Amino acid sequence: MPQSVAPYPAARFRRLRQTAALRGLQRENSLSADDLIWPVFVQDGTDTETPIASMPGVARLTIDRLIRAAETAHKAGVNAICLFPYIDPSLKTEDCADAWHPENLVNRAIRALKADLPGLAIMTDVALDPYNINGHDGFVVGGEVLNDETVAALVKMALAQAEAGADILGPSDMMDGRIGAIRRALEAAGHHKTCIISYAAKYASAFYGPFRDAVGASGLLTGDKNTYQMDPANSDEALRLVARDLAEGADMVMVKPGMPYLDICRRVKDRFGAPTFAYQVSGEYAMLRGAADQGWLDHDRAMMESLLAFKRAGCDGILTYFAPAAARLLGDRRG
Ligand code: PBG
Repeated sequence: MPQSVAPYPAARFRRLRQTAALRGLQRENSLSADDLIWPVFVQDGTDTETPIASMPGVARLTIDRLIRAAETAHKAGVNAICLFPYIDPSLKTEDCADAWHPENLVNRAIRALKADLPGLAIMTDVALDPYNINGHDGFVVGGEVLNDETVAALVKMALAQAEAGADILGPSDMMDGRIGAIRRALEAAGHHKTCIISYAAKYASAFYGPFRDAVGASGLLTGDKNTYQMDPANSDEALRLVARDLAEGADMVMVKPGMPYLDICRRVKDRFGAPTFAYQVSGEYAMLRGAADQGWLDHDRAMMESLLAFKRAGCDGILTYFAPAAARLLGDRRG
């Protein structure tokens, strides 16, 4: 590309930046509300919400309030939501049995949302951490996070979510073999329409801290997740994981966290051309929102620039806590 650039003054790049109309014509990427998935936290009870201190502007909602919030967001243009449960500490166990209970909090929330908003796509998280007494994504025995036993539990959890009506299942646990096992079980049970978005390249990141507060896992987590989540130093490994998960039957793949890993998004999109998503995680949200609350950043501009960066890096969509605010802003601009 650089070879085709005429020397100055024939080439003056500022010509095409002169007016909003010219800038619009040469704009390469754009963000739309269609690109957004909104992660939400749900808790038991009625007509209550609990603010999350490390995520200003975000609260855990009871199902009735979640429905009202989802209605508002859907009206603003958000077409997909992702549910994360805050499980009552008394229900957290070593065997994580609540994770696949047909009437657990998430499955009740799926049914209630589907009944009220059939056009809203519902994504779930498939991992044991909210249900686990020790905060890990898999069963822990003798200090080790077991792989195959965890996969068997994730299959039960995934089937219960599909049965409840989830559109997109999101295994976020980083066990080996779970995409294939879940896909086979879904097909065998007649759930051939249920999509899987694999958290394929999920790094062992410090940026998940506020999320662990939100789901009540912070105080419980023993040790770290380094034996199953990826080393932030690696890049080629992400491509091998994405290749593996697509081969096992993932419909979409995800890179997580987002902004510190845009290079991975680009490599994944270039190599596979598959539907590629990034998760702008809780710590990224907290940084941007915290700085904006202090008056150090312009909230709306920083939010939109951060989201557009994912599109530029090749992502088809973004999971972001900013989804309703961004959709509203995009709607205002159109109107
Ligand atoms: C766990 C899970 C995590 C997130 C989504 N699913 C945290 C973790 O792996 O510890 C993080 C999301 C965020 O930080 O916003 N299964």
